[in-house]
Amino acid sequence: MTEPTILPRPTARPAPLIDPFQRPISYLRVSVTDRCDFRCVYCMSENMTFLPKADVLSLEELARLCNAFVDLGVRKLRLTGGEPLVRRNIMWLVRELGRRLDGGGLEELTVTTNGSQLARYAAELVDAGVRRVNVSIDTLDPDKFQAITRWGKLDKVLEGLEAADRAGLAVKINAVALKGVNDGELADMVRWCGDRGYDMTVIEVMPMGDVGGETRVDQYLPLSMVRAGLSERFTLTDIPYKTGGPARYVTVEETGGRLGFITPLTHNFCESCNRVRLTCTGTLYMCLGQDDAADLRAPLRASDDDTLLEAAVREAIARKPKGHDFIIDRRHQRPAVARHMSVTGG
Ligand code: 5AD
Ligand code: SF4
Repeated sequence: MTEPTILPRPTARPAPLIDPFQRPISYLRVSVTDRCDFRCVYCMSENMTFLPKADVLSLEELARLCNAFVDLGVRKLRLTGGEPLVRRNIMWLVRELGRRLDGGGLEELTVTTNGSQLARYAAELVDAGVRRVNVSIDTLDPDKFQAITRWGKLDKVLEGLEAADRAGLAVKINAVALKGVNDGELADMVRWCGDRGYDMTVIEVMPMGDVGGETRVDQYLPLSMVRAGLSERFTLTDIPYKTGGPARYVTVEETGGRLGFITPLTHNFCESCNRVRLTCTGTLYMCLGQDDAADLRAPLRASDDDTLLEAAVREAIARKPKGHDFIIDRRHQRPAVARHMSVTGG
């Protein structure tokens, strides 16, 4: 007779999150605040009404939610806003989440920022385990920068980039392509990024939220045209590089840099979508381009145990739609999605 083998106690590893289209959900983007110290023309109106503080989750609640997602198989977390680094005590959350790196289930913790506070935080971010940041810069002309961001100062952001370089953070520059504003300058930005060792992504303007004044039809510049323009100056070669996001990448032979294109309107990237978005009020959006959302704040607050929360997350993922249907409505000129980008952080 053989000795009964003592099987190890089954580890309570929950089933991973898989949506109805068999896409594993491994990437959570978390907007930690809807506030921002800039007012970019394509993102916000000048007089934004922000959420009352009471509606916003505490940093402890955000940490608990993020931890629950990591327990459910999320491997990559990105903190966004608004501007994430204007939230008071944000580094507490970053350090808390950083503890899940190095064997704690999380593979990458990243931040999308406008760079205004980066000079102050770059070294601390690295210390907490952040290795890459995305910094939004649409132009290197200080006056244009001010015109686009309304309240931003380019030199402050450039100081932030220097601090990021010193701290050893990898930087990717996000530039929104804006017709008649920065289209003539994108090639110079590609060169500038290449010289500094930054990756760059060009983003097509998305019809999200009422921004007042100019219309999206005026701002919209298809990236096929941007790419054609850049090809006159650079040799662009398609590469299969993936960052977990929706960008398609090329290498720029002349600089050795990588350049990504995010084209939600001209190219559908939904089939490989692995992400969901959480707002600072605990609302989970299953798709950037759809209004359907799930409230996670109620189950989070209903008990200290994560059972209800986990059930709510699974129920939400089971509703993740196949894709978005953004269109810039030329007749009515209204946004396809009513909420602003600063709610879900792109
Ligand atoms: N369309 C495209 N990009 C946008 N962003 C903000 N609003 C929009 C929009 N309507 C960008 C920011 C930042 C990123 C998080 O999203 O410039 O780079
Ligand atoms: Fe702020 Fe970013 Fe929106 Fe600009 S795009 S207003 S920096 S959240």
